[in-house]
Amino acid sequence: MGVVRNLRQVDADAAGVDVAFRADVHAGFGQTPKAIPARWFYDTTGSALFEDITALPEYYPTRSETDLLTRHARDLAAAIGAGRAVVELGSGSSTKTPLLLDAIAPAAYVPVDISGEFLRDSARALAARFAGLPVYPVEADFTQRVDMPREIADLPKLGFFPGSTIGNMVARTAVDLLRNWREALGEGSLLLIGIDRIKDERVLELAYDDPAGVTAAFNLNLLERINRELGGDIPVENFTHRAIWNDVFARIEMHLVAACDMDFVVDGRRYEMTAGETIHSENSHKYGARDANLLLRASGWTPVASWDDTDPAFALILAKATAFRSAP
Ligand code: AVI
Repeated sequence: MGVVRNLRQVDADAAGVDVAFRADVHAGFGQTPKAIPARWFYDTTGSALFEDITALPEYYPTRSETDLLTRHARDLAAAIGAGRAVVELGSGSSTKTPLLLDAIAPAAYVPVDISGEFLRDSARALAARFAGLPVYPVEADFTQRVDMPREIADLPKLGFFPGSTIGNMVARTAVDLLRNWREALGEGSLLLIGIDRIKDERVLELAYDDPAGVTAAFNLNLLERINRELGGDIPVENFTHRAIWNDVFARIEMHLVAACDMDFVVDGRRYEMTAGETIHSENSHKYGARDANLLLRASGWTPVASWDDTDPAFALILAKATAFRSAP
């Protein structure tokens, strides 16, 4: 069947720049402390660097999750059942997807990703591997409202949200996102979500500040992207990468640290930074078992099963969009 149709739901200006990117950069540079949402890491260069991160020995989440999907394929198949439309949020290069599709015999596959080039390539590769499976790629920001292809309207659905990407959102945004997807997928749908666990902070800090400097390059590419797409003159060489564990918020934070006082122009607007000031570029929240279950319940998803037996610890949780009951 192959790739059926490519739905594009991105709002770009005349120069082809995502209007939300421009707005987020100006808003982020205009606030104190400076902060840019992590979703803007993923241009073509950033997406490729992220793929390199997933292969690093220090970056365990991809390995742990792949291990869970491989070892528990039978249990997943039994719990999920065949014939569902699998909707993958932030599909990227869809590397883990074949493990799931092989296990559960789905009726359709809908990868949703903001990085169009990556999405098209991986959708083509998947369609070639799963002959007969309809693939409906949707180029969109999954943190916003996304319209589902009409062809899957009557199919039972499984949301697939691997990689612990939910950890990149603060709790309030995470709940908003999970509630929106509950709405989009409908009552009775299932969600298979990857959640990274809280662990020794040295393991975490190494995973986000690897000795080969790949994560540093990924972080710094955000500034290069701003220069490329928004005509900026940010002196990228005057920034360094920092990853620190914030125990109060149970998250790894990534920052871009200014090495000296500087000013620069982005898109005709001038910004100043002083030595040591940072641009906060990412949060990666980690969850204990009860924290994750509460997050899901608060979003209208009832946890029904979980697979959790990896080292370093990572969890795959299956949840169901059940009817709301306020009383016991
Ligand atoms: C995509 N996301 C789940 C990654 C994470 O682990 O938070 C992004 C990442 N940032 C640095 N390394 C990986």
